[in-house]
Amino acid sequence: KDNSTVSITVVGASGDLAKKKIFPALFALYYEDCLPEHFTIFGYARSKMTDAELRNMVSQTLTCRIDKRENCTEKMELFLKRCFYHSGQYDSLDNFAELDKKLKEHEDGRVSNRIFYLSIPPNIFVDAVKCASLSASSANGWTRVIVEKPFGRDSESSAALTKDLKQYLEEDQIFRIDHYLGKELVENLSVLRFSNLIFEPLWSRQYIRSVQLIFSEDFGTEGRGGYFDHYGIIRDIMQNHLLQILALFAMETPVSLDAEDIRNEKVKVLRSMRPLKLEDTVPQGSLTPTFAAAALFIDNARWEGVPFLMKAGKALHDKRTEIRVQFRHVPGNLYKRNFGPDLDDATNELVIRVQPDEAIYLTINNKVPGLGMKLDRSNLNLLYAARYSKEIPDAYERLLLDAIEGERRLFIRSDELDAAWALFTPLLKELEEKNIIPEYYPYGSRSPVGVHYLAARHNVKWGDLD
Ligand code: BG6
Repeated sequence: KDNSTVSITVVGASGDLAKKKIFPALFALYYEDCLPEHFTIFGYARSKMTDAELRNMVSQTLTCRIDKRENCTEKMELFLKRCFYHSGQYDSLDNFAELDKKLKEHEDGRVSNRIFYLSIPPNIFVDAVKCASLSASSANGWTRVIVEKPFGRDSESSAALTKDLKQYLEEDQIFRIDHYLGKELVENLSVLRFSNLIFEPLWSRQYIRSVQLIFSEDFGTEGRGGYFDHYGIIRDIMQNHLLQILALFAMETPVSLDAEDIRNEKVKVLRSMRPLKLEDTVPQGSLTPTFAAAALFIDNARWEGVPFLMKAGKALHDKRTEIRVQFRHVPGNLYKRNFGPDLDDATNELVIRVQPDEAIYLTINNKVPGLGMKLDRSNLNLLYAARYSKEIPDAYERLLLDAIEGERRLFIRSDELDAAWALFTPLLKELEEKNIIPEYYPYGSRSPVGVHYLAARHNVKWGDLD
Protein backbone atom coordinates (compact mmCIF):
# COMPACT_ATOMS: atom_id res chain seq x y z
CA LYS A 1 0.00 0.00 0.00
CA ASP A 2 1.22 3.46 -0.87
CA ASN A 3 2.33 5.20 2.28
CA SER A 4 3.12 8.53 0.70
CA THR A 5 1.09 11.61 -0.04
CA VAL A 6 1.46 14.36 -2.57
CA SER A 7 0.13 17.79 -1.81
CA ILE A 8 -0.03 20.44 -4.46
CA THR A 9 -0.24 24.02 -3.28
CA VAL A 10 -1.25 26.49 -5.93
CA VAL A 11 0.29 29.74 -4.76
CA GLY A 12 -1.76 32.49 -6.38
CA ALA A 13 -4.88 30.35 -6.48
CA SER A 14 -7.27 33.11 -7.45
CA GLY A 15 -5.31 34.16 -10.52
CA ASP A 16 -6.20 33.52 -14.13
CA LEU A 17 -3.67 30.79 -14.79
CA ALA A 18 -4.76 28.83 -11.73
CA LYS A 19 -8.42 29.05 -12.67
CA LYS A 20 -8.06 28.44 -16.38
CA LYS A 21 -5.23 25.94 -16.52
CA ILE A 22 -3.92 24.52 -13.25
CA PHE A 23 -7.10 23.39 -11.49
CA PRO A 24 -8.70 22.04 -14.69
CA ALA A 25 -5.49 20.13 -15.50
CA LEU A 26 -5.41 18.66 -12.01
CA PHE A 27 -9.01 17.60 -12.37
CA ALA A 28 -8.33 16.00 -15.76
CA LEU A 29 -5.49 14.02 -14.19
CA TYR A 30 -7.78 12.99 -11.37
CA TYR A 31 -10.46 11.96 -13.84
CA GLU A 32 -7.95 9.79 -15.68
CA ASP A 33 -6.81 8.22 -12.39
CA CYS A 34 -3.33 9.66 -12.82
CA LEU A 35 -3.05 11.34 -9.41
CA PRO A 36 -1.58 9.37 -6.51
CA GLU A 37 -3.93 7.64 -4.12
CA HIS A 38 -3.29 10.16 -1.35
CA PHE A 39 -3.25 13.69 -2.66
CA THR A 40 -4.45 17.05 -1.45
CA ILE A 41 -4.72 20.31 -3.30
CA PHE A 42 -4.37 23.61 -1.53
CA GLY A 43 -5.13 27.00 -2.95
CA TYR A 44 -3.03 29.74 -1.35
CA ALA A 45 -3.60 33.44 -1.94
CA ARG A 46 -4.04 36.70 -0.10
CA SER A 47 -7.78 37.07 -0.38
CA LYS A 48 -9.95 35.63 2.33
CA MET A 49 -11.89 32.62 1.15
CA THR A 50 -13.37 29.52 2.71
CA ASP A 51 -12.76 26.02 1.36
CA ALA A 52 -16.32 26.10 0.02
CA GLU A 53 -15.68 29.37 -1.79
CA LEU A 54 -12.50 28.02 -3.35
CA ARG A 55 -14.37 24.90 -4.47
CA ASN A 56 -17.07 27.02 -5.94
CA MET A 57 -14.52 29.12 -7.81
CA VAL A 58 -12.64 26.08 -9.06
CA SER A 59 -15.81 24.30 -10.12
CA GLN A 60 -16.66 27.11 -12.56
CA THR A 61 -13.77 26.24 -14.84
CA LEU A 62 -13.66 22.45 -14.54
CA THR A 63 -14.69 20.69 -17.68
CA CYS A 64 -14.83 17.10 -18.75
CA ARG A 65 -13.76 18.25 -22.20
CA ILE A 66 -16.23 15.91 -23.78
CA ASP A 67 -19.50 16.71 -22.08
CA LYS A 68 -21.05 13.33 -22.01
CA ARG A 69 -18.27 11.46 -20.32
CA GLU A 70 -19.24 8.98 -17.68
CA ASN A 71 -19.48 9.94 -14.01
CA CYS A 72 -18.21 13.39 -14.70
CA THR A 73 -20.29 15.19 -12.10
CA GLU A 74 -19.56 12.60 -9.43
CA LYS A 75 -15.86 12.77 -10.17
CA MET A 76 -15.94 16.54 -9.97
CA GLU A 77 -17.52 16.41 -6.57
CA LEU A 78 -14.97 13.92 -5.31
CA PHE A 79 -12.17 16.04 -6.72
CA LEU A 80 -13.47 19.23 -5.12
CA LYS A 81 -13.56 17.50 -1.74
CA ARG A 82 -9.79 17.13 -2.01
CA CYS A 83 -9.33 20.91 -2.58
CA PHE A 84 -8.73 23.29 0.33
CA TYR A 85 -7.80 26.90 0.79
CA HIS A 86 -5.40 28.81 2.97
CA SER A 87 -5.24 32.56 2.97
CA GLY A 88 -1.87 34.19 3.52
CA GLN A 89 0.69 36.72 2.40
CA TYR A 90 3.30 35.57 -0.09
CA ASP A 91 6.14 36.84 2.07
CA SER A 92 4.98 35.63 5.45
CA LEU A 93 6.92 32.83 7.12
CA ASP A 94 4.10 32.60 9.68
CA ASN A 95 1.37 32.21 7.11
CA PHE A 96 3.32 29.44 5.37
CA ALA A 97 3.90 27.81 8.76
CA GLU A 98 0.11 27.74 9.23
CA LEU A 99 -0.18 26.11 5.84
CA ASP A 100 2.44 23.58 6.89
CA LYS A 101 0.31 22.66 9.86
CA LYS A 102 -2.72 22.09 7.69
CA LEU A 103 -0.70 20.05 5.20
CA LYS A 104 0.55 17.85 8.03
CA GLU A 105 -3.00 17.16 9.16
CA HIS A 106 -3.84 15.95 5.68
CA GLU A 107 -0.68 13.91 5.40
CA ASP A 108 -1.69 12.03 8.50
CA GLY A 109 1.76 10.66 9.30
CA ARG A 110 2.50 9.41 5.77
CA VAL A 111 5.64 10.30 3.82
CA SER A 112 5.03 13.86 2.71
CA ASN A 113 5.79 15.05 -0.82
CA ARG A 114 4.99 18.62 -1.65
CA ILE A 115 4.68 20.69 -4.77
CA PHE A 116 4.34 24.46 -4.72
CA TYR A 117 3.08 25.84 -8.00
CA LEU A 118 3.96 29.53 -8.20
CA SER A 119 1.23 31.18 -10.16
CA ILE A 120 2.18 34.68 -9.02
CA PRO A 121 3.99 37.71 -10.49
CA PRO A 122 7.77 37.28 -10.78
CA ASN A 123 8.61 40.06 -8.32
CA ILE A 124 7.32 37.89 -5.48
CA PHE A 125 8.78 34.53 -6.63
CA VAL A 126 11.74 34.68 -4.31
CA ASP A 127 9.77 35.71 -1.22
CA ALA A 128 7.26 32.94 -1.77
CA VAL A 129 9.98 30.35 -2.38
CA LYS A 130 11.79 31.49 0.72
CA CYS A 131 8.68 31.14 2.89
CA ALA A 132 7.55 27.88 1.34
CA SER A 133 10.99 26.40 1.73
CA LEU A 134 11.70 27.61 5.27
CA SER A 135 8.21 27.14 6.72
CA ALA A 136 6.46 24.53 4.65
CA SER A 137 8.86 22.16 2.95
CA SER A 138 8.46 18.46 3.49
CA ALA A 139 10.23 16.97 6.49
CA ASN A 140 10.54 13.42 5.20
CA GLY A 141 9.84 13.44 1.45
CA TRP A 142 10.54 15.70 -1.48
CA THR A 143 9.63 19.34 -2.09
CA ARG A 144 9.38 20.72 -5.63
CA VAL A 145 8.58 24.17 -6.90
CA ILE A 146 7.01 24.81 -10.28
CA VAL A 147 7.77 28.26 -11.68
CA GLU A 148 6.17 29.94 -14.64
CA LYS A 149 7.90 32.41 -16.88
CA PRO A 150 8.96 35.20 -17.02
CA PHE A 151 12.27 33.99 -15.65
CA GLY A 152 13.77 37.46 -15.67
CA ARG A 153 13.89 40.04 -18.46
CA ASP A 154 17.41 39.43 -19.72
CA SER A 155 20.55 37.45 -18.93
CA GLU A 156 21.42 39.42 -15.80
CA SER A 157 17.99 39.44 -14.17
CA SER A 158 17.47 35.79 -15.02
CA ALA A 159 20.82 34.82 -13.49
CA ALA A 160 19.96 36.86 -10.40
CA LEU A 161 16.62 35.09 -10.07
CA THR A 162 18.27 31.68 -10.38
CA LYS A 163 20.84 32.66 -7.79
CA ASP A 164 18.15 33.85 -5.38
CA LEU A 165 16.06 30.73 -5.84
CA LYS A 166 19.10 28.54 -5.26
CA GLN A 167 19.52 30.02 -1.80
CA TYR A 168 16.48 27.96 -0.89
CA LEU A 169 16.27 25.20 -3.47
CA GLU A 170 18.49 22.76 -5.28
CA GLU A 171 18.36 22.89 -9.07
CA ASP A 172 16.53 19.57 -9.21
CA GLN A 173 13.74 20.97 -7.03
CA ILE A 174 13.01 23.76 -9.52
CA PHE A 175 10.61 22.86 -12.32
CA ARG A 176 10.63 25.74 -14.82
CA ILE A 177 7.59 25.41 -17.04
CA ASP A 178 7.45 26.23 -20.70
CA HIS A 179 4.00 24.94 -21.45
CA TYR A 180 4.75 24.61 -25.17
CA LEU A 181 6.93 21.63 -24.30
CA GLY A 182 3.82 19.92 -22.98
CA LYS A 183 1.93 20.23 -26.25
CA GLU A 184 1.26 16.97 -28.03
CA LEU A 185 2.87 17.87 -31.34
CA VAL A 186 5.93 19.37 -29.74
CA GLU A 187 6.34 16.15 -27.76
CA ASN A 188 5.93 14.25 -31.02
CA LEU A 189 8.64 16.21 -32.79
CA SER A 190 11.42 13.90 -31.64
CA VAL A 191 9.34 10.84 -32.43
CA LEU A 192 8.72 12.06 -35.94
CA ARG A 193 12.36 12.79 -36.52
CA PHE A 194 14.16 10.02 -34.70
CA SER A 195 11.93 7.09 -35.47
CA ASN A 196 11.22 7.62 -39.15
CA LEU A 197 13.86 6.74 -41.68
CA ILE A 198 12.18 8.93 -44.25
CA PHE A 199 12.88 12.00 -42.10
CA GLU A 200 15.91 11.37 -39.93
CA PRO A 201 18.55 11.36 -42.69
CA LEU A 202 17.04 14.49 -44.24
CA TRP A 203 17.32 16.55 -41.06
CA SER A 204 20.24 18.76 -42.01
CA ARG A 205 21.47 21.59 -44.22
CA GLN A 206 21.97 19.10 -47.01
CA TYR A 207 18.23 18.74 -47.58
CA ILE A 208 16.56 21.47 -45.57
CA ARG A 209 16.45 24.97 -47.02
CA SER A 210 14.81 26.72 -44.10
CA VAL A 211 12.80 26.08 -40.98
CA GLN A 212 10.01 28.40 -39.97
CA LEU A 213 8.43 28.71 -36.57
CA ILE A 214 5.20 30.57 -36.67
CA PHE A 215 3.05 31.76 -33.81
CA SER A 216 -0.01 33.89 -34.26
CA GLU A 217 -2.96 34.80 -32.13
CA ASP A 218 -6.18 36.42 -33.21
CA PHE A 219 -6.51 38.42 -30.01
CA GLY A 220 -4.38 41.17 -28.56
CA THR A 221 -3.10 41.94 -25.11
CA GLU A 222 -6.49 42.73 -23.66
CA GLY A 223 -6.46 42.36 -19.89
CA ARG A 224 -2.70 41.80 -19.76
CA GLY A 225 -1.49 45.19 -20.96
CA GLY A 226 0.60 45.88 -17.87
CA TYR A 227 2.55 42.63 -18.07
CA PHE A 228 2.86 42.80 -21.82
CA ASP A 229 4.12 46.34 -21.92
CA HIS A 230 6.99 45.32 -19.71
CA TYR A 231 7.91 42.15 -21.60
CA GLY A 232 6.76 42.34 -25.23
CA ILE A 233 6.43 39.53 -27.73
CA ILE A 234 10.14 38.65 -27.99
CA ARG A 235 10.30 37.78 -24.31
CA ASP A 236 6.75 36.44 -24.15
CA ILE A 237 6.91 33.96 -27.03
CA MET A 238 10.19 33.88 -28.95
CA GLN A 239 12.83 33.56 -26.27
CA ASN A 240 10.97 30.66 -24.71
CA HIS A 241 8.19 28.88 -26.62
CA LEU A 242 9.62 29.19 -30.14
CA LEU A 243 13.23 28.81 -29.10
CA GLN A 244 12.42 25.65 -27.16
CA ILE A 245 10.77 24.17 -30.23
CA LEU A 246 13.79 25.17 -32.29
CA ALA A 247 16.18 23.52 -29.84
CA LEU A 248 14.21 20.27 -29.90
CA PHE A 249 13.98 20.41 -33.65
CA ALA A 250 17.66 21.03 -34.27
CA MET A 251 19.46 19.18 -31.46
CA GLU A 252 21.76 16.25 -32.16
CA THR A 253 20.52 12.78 -31.25
CA PRO A 254 20.54 12.50 -27.47
CA VAL A 255 22.32 9.53 -25.89
CA SER A 256 18.97 8.42 -24.46
CA LEU A 257 15.55 9.77 -23.62
CA ASP A 258 16.74 10.59 -20.14
CA ALA A 259 16.03 14.18 -19.06
CA GLU A 260 19.69 15.10 -18.64
CA ASP A 261 20.68 13.62 -21.99
CA ILE A 262 17.96 15.53 -23.82
CA ARG A 263 18.66 18.78 -22.04
CA ASN A 264 22.40 18.42 -22.65
CA GLU A 265 21.71 18.31 -26.37
CA LYS A 266 19.34 21.27 -26.21
CA VAL A 267 21.95 23.35 -24.41
CA LYS A 268 24.55 22.39 -26.99
CA VAL A 269 22.45 23.52 -29.90
CA LEU A 270 21.44 26.75 -28.14
CA ARG A 271 25.08 27.50 -27.48
CA SER A 272 25.91 26.92 -31.15
CA MET A 273 23.53 29.68 -32.16
CA ARG A 274 24.49 33.22 -32.99
CA PRO A 275 23.09 35.86 -30.65
CA LEU A 276 20.57 37.93 -32.55
CA LYS A 277 21.42 41.32 -33.96
CA LEU A 278 19.10 44.07 -34.97
CA GLU A 279 19.74 43.28 -38.63
CA ASP A 280 18.53 39.70 -38.11
CA THR A 281 15.10 40.95 -37.24
CA VAL A 282 12.40 42.70 -39.16
CA PRO A 283 13.94 45.96 -40.46
CA GLN A 284 14.08 49.02 -38.31
CA GLY A 285 10.74 50.43 -37.57
CA SER A 286 8.97 47.13 -38.14
CA LEU A 287 9.48 45.78 -34.71
CA THR A 288 6.53 46.21 -32.43
CA PRO A 289 5.97 45.04 -28.92
CA THR A 290 3.21 42.70 -30.14
CA PHE A 291 4.84 41.37 -33.30
CA ALA A 292 8.37 40.33 -34.17
CA ALA A 293 10.14 38.26 -36.75
CA ALA A 294 13.72 37.11 -36.72
CA ALA A 295 16.20 34.89 -38.51
CA LEU A 296 18.37 32.68 -36.35
CA PHE A 297 21.40 30.63 -37.34
CA ILE A 298 23.04 27.60 -35.84
CA ASP A 299 26.75 27.58 -36.52
CA ASN A 300 27.39 23.87 -36.48
CA ALA A 301 28.09 21.18 -39.05
CA ARG A 302 24.46 20.12 -39.36
CA TRP A 303 22.85 23.52 -39.78
CA GLU A 304 25.38 26.03 -41.07
CA GLY A 305 23.66 28.51 -43.39
CA VAL A 306 20.10 27.32 -42.77
CA PRO A 307 17.87 30.21 -41.71
CA PHE A 308 15.53 29.41 -38.85
CA LEU A 309 12.88 32.05 -39.28
CA MET A 310 10.60 32.90 -36.42
CA LYS A 311 7.60 35.14 -36.30
CA ALA A 312 5.27 35.72 -33.44
CA GLY A 313 2.38 38.09 -33.26
CA LYS A 314 -0.75 39.00 -31.44
CA ALA A 315 -3.91 40.54 -32.85
CA LEU A 316 -3.43 38.89 -36.23
CA HIS A 317 -5.98 37.27 -38.51
CA ASP A 318 -5.78 33.75 -37.08
CA LYS A 319 -4.56 31.66 -34.18
CA ARG A 320 -1.99 29.04 -35.02
CA THR A 321 1.37 27.61 -34.15
CA GLU A 322 3.27 25.79 -36.86
CA ILE A 323 6.66 24.43 -37.65
CA ARG A 324 7.31 24.50 -41.39
CA VAL A 325 10.28 22.69 -42.83
CA GLN A 326 11.10 23.74 -46.37
CA PHE A 327 13.26 21.31 -48.27
CA ARG A 328 15.68 22.15 -51.05
CA HIS A 329 14.66 21.72 -54.66
CA VAL A 330 15.44 18.56 -56.59
CA PRO A 331 18.58 19.33 -58.61
CA GLY A 332 17.98 19.09 -62.33
CA ASN A 333 14.33 18.23 -61.87
CA LEU A 334 13.13 16.41 -65.00
CA TYR A 335 9.65 17.79 -64.61
CA LYS A 336 10.48 21.44 -64.18
CA ARG A 337 8.70 22.43 -67.38
CA ASN A 338 5.55 20.63 -66.27
CA PHE A 339 5.09 22.65 -63.14
CA GLY A 340 2.01 24.78 -63.03
CA PRO A 341 2.42 28.47 -62.15
CA ASP A 342 1.74 27.80 -58.48
CA LEU A 343 4.63 25.39 -58.16
CA ASP A 344 7.35 27.98 -58.19
CA ASP A 345 10.50 26.02 -57.40
CA ALA A 346 8.39 23.04 -56.30
CA THR A 347 10.06 22.23 -53.04
CA ASN A 348 8.61 19.86 -50.52
CA GLU A 349 7.38 21.18 -47.25
CA LEU A 350 6.74 19.34 -44.01
CA VAL A 351 4.28 21.12 -41.77
CA ILE A 352 3.73 20.32 -38.14
CA ARG A 353 0.66 22.15 -36.97
CA VAL A 354 0.93 22.36 -33.22
CA GLN A 355 -2.43 24.08 -32.90
CA PRO A 356 -5.29 24.36 -33.58
CA ASP A 357 -6.43 21.26 -35.51
CA GLU A 358 -3.25 19.33 -34.78
CA ALA A 359 -1.82 17.86 -37.96
CA ILE A 360 1.32 16.80 -39.76
CA TYR A 361 1.34 17.17 -43.49
CA LEU A 362 3.83 16.87 -46.24
CA THR A 363 3.55 18.76 -49.47
CA ILE A 364 4.61 16.72 -52.47
CA ASN A 365 4.66 17.36 -56.19
CA ASN A 366 2.18 15.16 -57.94
CA LYS A 367 0.91 14.49 -61.43
CA VAL A 368 -2.55 15.86 -61.99
CA PRO A 369 -4.56 12.85 -63.19
CA GLY A 370 -5.29 12.90 -66.91
CA LEU A 371 -3.68 12.34 -70.24
CA GLY A 372 -1.39 15.32 -70.10
CA MET A 373 1.60 15.84 -67.85
CA LYS A 374 0.92 18.63 -65.44
CA LEU A 375 2.16 18.67 -61.88
CA ASP A 376 0.64 20.24 -58.84
CA ARG A 377 1.23 20.32 -55.13
CA SER A 378 -0.70 17.95 -52.92
CA ASN A 379 -0.63 17.14 -49.26
CA LEU A 380 -0.14 13.84 -47.52
CA ASN A 381 -2.13 14.73 -44.49
CA LEU A 382 -2.24 13.31 -40.97
CA LEU A 383 -5.06 15.13 -39.32
CA TYR A 384 -5.17 14.11 -35.67
CA ALA A 385 -8.92 14.55 -35.29
CA ALA A 386 -9.53 12.13 -38.14
CA ARG A 387 -6.84 9.62 -37.18
CA TYR A 388 -7.20 9.46 -33.40
CA SER A 389 -10.50 9.44 -31.64
CA LYS A 390 -8.76 10.23 -28.37
CA GLU A 391 -8.88 13.80 -27.20
CA ILE A 392 -5.55 15.56 -26.78
CA PRO A 393 -4.62 16.42 -23.20
CA ASP A 394 -3.86 20.01 -22.34
CA ALA A 395 -0.14 20.79 -22.02
CA TYR A 396 -0.55 21.51 -18.31
CA GLU A 397 -1.80 17.99 -17.66
CA ARG A 398 1.34 16.40 -19.03
CA LEU A 399 3.60 18.87 -17.24
CA LEU A 400 1.88 18.57 -13.87
CA LEU A 401 1.97 14.81 -14.08
CA ASP A 402 5.67 14.92 -14.92
CA ALA A 403 6.34 17.23 -11.98
CA ILE A 404 4.50 14.84 -9.66
CA GLU A 405 6.48 11.92 -11.04
CA GLY A 406 9.79 13.79 -10.96
CA GLU A 407 10.26 13.58 -14.74
CA ARG A 408 12.32 16.63 -15.72
CA ARG A 409 12.61 16.12 -19.47
CA LEU A 410 10.10 18.84 -20.34
CA PHE A 411 11.30 21.43 -17.84
CA ILE A 412 13.97 24.04 -18.47
CA ARG A 413 17.31 23.55 -16.75
CA SER A 414 19.14 26.67 -15.58
CA ASP A 415 21.94 26.35 -18.16
CA GLU A 416 19.32 26.10 -20.92
CA LEU A 417 17.74 29.25 -19.62
CA ASP A 418 21.09 31.04 -19.57
CA ALA A 419 21.80 29.98 -23.15
CA ALA A 420 18.35 31.13 -24.28
CA TRP A 421 18.80 34.55 -22.70
CA ALA A 422 22.30 34.89 -24.13
CA LEU A 423 20.81 34.74 -27.61
CA PHE A 424 18.23 37.45 -27.11
CA THR A 425 19.68 39.82 -24.51
CA PRO A 426 21.99 41.84 -26.82
CA LEU A 427 19.12 42.42 -29.26
CA LEU A 428 16.67 43.36 -26.52
CA LYS A 429 19.15 45.86 -25.13
CA GLU A 430 19.81 47.37 -28.54
CA LEU A 431 16.09 47.71 -29.22
CA GLU A 432 15.57 49.48 -25.94
CA GLU A 433 18.63 51.69 -26.21
CA LYS A 434 17.84 52.77 -29.75
CA ASN A 435 14.20 53.18 -28.91
CA ILE A 436 13.04 51.51 -32.10
CA ILE A 437 9.64 52.79 -33.17
CA PRO A 438 7.16 50.06 -33.92
CA GLU A 439 5.56 49.67 -37.30
CA TYR A 440 1.83 49.57 -36.73
CA TYR A 441 -0.32 46.89 -38.22
CA PRO A 442 -4.07 46.76 -38.24
CA TYR A 443 -5.73 44.52 -35.68
CA GLY A 444 -6.66 41.29 -37.47
CA SER A 445 -4.19 41.68 -40.34
CA ARG A 446 -1.78 38.97 -41.52
CA SER A 447 1.42 40.67 -40.41
CA PRO A 448 3.42 43.86 -40.84
CA VAL A 449 5.01 43.95 -44.30
CA GLY A 450 8.52 43.82 -42.87
CA VAL A 451 8.32 40.04 -42.49
CA HIS A 452 8.49 39.65 -46.26
CA TYR A 453 11.73 41.62 -46.51
CA LEU A 454 13.21 39.50 -43.78
CA ALA A 455 12.38 36.25 -45.56
CA ALA A 456 13.47 37.64 -48.92
CA ARG A 457 16.81 38.61 -47.47
CA HIS A 458 17.38 34.93 -46.80
CA ASN A 459 15.97 33.95 -50.14
CA VAL A 460 12.93 32.14 -48.77
CA LYS A 461 9.20 32.72 -48.52
CA TRP A 462 6.96 32.26 -45.54
CA GLY A 463 5.14 29.00 -46.07
CA ASP A 464 1.97 30.15 -44.38
CA LEU A 465 1.44 33.08 -46.71
CA ASP A 466 1.04 31.03 -49.88
C1 BG6 B 1 1.80 32.38 -22.87
C2 BG6 B 1 1.96 33.81 -23.25
O1 BG6 B 1 3.01 31.87 -22.41
O2 BG6 B 1 1.35 31.63 -23.98
C3 BG6 B 1 0.67 34.36 -23.83
O3 BG6 B 1 2.36 34.58 -22.11
C4 BG6 B 1 0.14 33.49 -24.92
O4 BG6 B 1 0.87 35.69 -24.31
C5 BG6 B 1 0.09 32.04 -24.49
O5 BG6 B 1 -1.16 33.93 -25.27
C6 BG6 B 1 -0.26 31.12 -25.63
O6 BG6 B 1 -0.47 29.83 -25.16
P1 BG6 B 1 -1.41 28.84 -25.91
O7 BG6 B 1 -1.21 27.53 -25.22
O8 BG6 B 1 -2.80 29.36 -25.80
O9 BG6 B 1 -0.96 28.83 -27.33
